Amino acid sequence: MHARKYFFVITRDLNQVKNALIKGDIIALPTETVYGLAANVYSDSAVEKVYKLKMRPAYNPLIVHIAKPSILEKVAKNIPAKARELADTFWPGPLTLVLDKQVQIPDRITAGKKTVAVRVPNHPLALQLLNSLNFPLAAPSANPFGSISPTSAEHVALYFKNQLNFILDGGPCSLGLESTIIGFENNKPMLYRHGAIALDKIEKVIGPIQIKNQSDNKPSAPGMLSRHYAPKTQILIIEDISVALAQNPYKKIGVLSFQKFISSNTEIHQEVLSISGDLEEAAKNLYAALQRLDQMNLDIIITSIFPEKGLGKTINDRLKRAIKD
Ligand code: TXA
Ligand code: MG
Repeated sequence: MHARKYFFVITRDLNQVKNALIKGDIIALPTETVYGLAANVYSDSAVEKVYKLKMRPAYNPLIVHIAKPSILEKVAKNIPAKARELADTFWPGPLTLVLDKQVQIPDRITAGKKTVAVRVPNHPLALQLLNSLNFPLAAPSANPFGSISPTSAEHVALYFKNQLNFILDGGPCSLGLESTIIGFENNKPMLYRHGAIALDKIEKVIGPIQIKNQSDNKPSAPGMLSRHYAPKTQILIIEDISVALAQNPYKKIGVLSFQKFISSNTEIHQEVLSISGDLEEAAKNLYAALQRLDQMNLDIIITSIFPEKGLGKTINDRLKRAIKD
């Protein structure tokens, strides 16, 4: 029985998914970053379902996904020249811009803020779907609030298979980390969330960007909450993983490393993110590896800080937020 339903919900049929959205249902959607839970931006009840299913606090606004840069003005206004430059350079792609919202964007989407987060995703199925609809899609990552974002249809099913009618299967996400979020304060660009485009690539286009430092109480982007993107298993971040292995008192251990296998002990579950030392490959594999380790009922996952450059900054940001208090 369950197996049938499981296969029923994962689909590649765009029409089914499109009709569900038009009826006010919510669906899971592939993007190049992570899978999203998508709703018609203008349907209050669909947007409400997204918040409920994710158990997302009402203060945490959603990202609006649009089909092409040329319709940005339907969603946002007073667009700074630098935002325009970024949109021209990186869209479709993993860059989210926080801009002044147009009146027709419901307050529920923006959690009452005067700004709206918007991006054009770079995934063929997502783009085809968006182009076939006459409304944008509000889509947060398709995971319960605070958990690891899903990078495959199967991950979404692990979280929500009994609560969703359709998961649009676009294969594994090509980037595997959420979009980079840039906002503007007094026309100055601010980084709200490290993401799938490394900060230095964005700075090459518009110059220096200030990194927003936020307290947990009123984050501009709750993706900045100190505990977020977290597996159930305890995580230890340490300089030398082998030292931790030598001294550790735990029974069931997982290791998450960048390039090298750390131990010849086959009882230790090891995930190496990129044998060739490529940070983009590591980024792509990070969440799937964490998911696999998290499914094993381990006592602990041991990892160390990645090189603090390029996407290593985003990986380190996510690892730090995955630590349990
Ligand atoms: O890659 C992505 O961005 C994925 C895919 C599905 O597009 N989406 C995603 O959504 O990561 P979500 O909801 O998990 O994270 C969106 C982040 C949240 O931290 C939220 O607080 C922030 O964007 N955000 C949304 N609207 C905002 C606004 N008006 N001002 C500041 N931050 C905003
Ligand atoms: Mg999220």
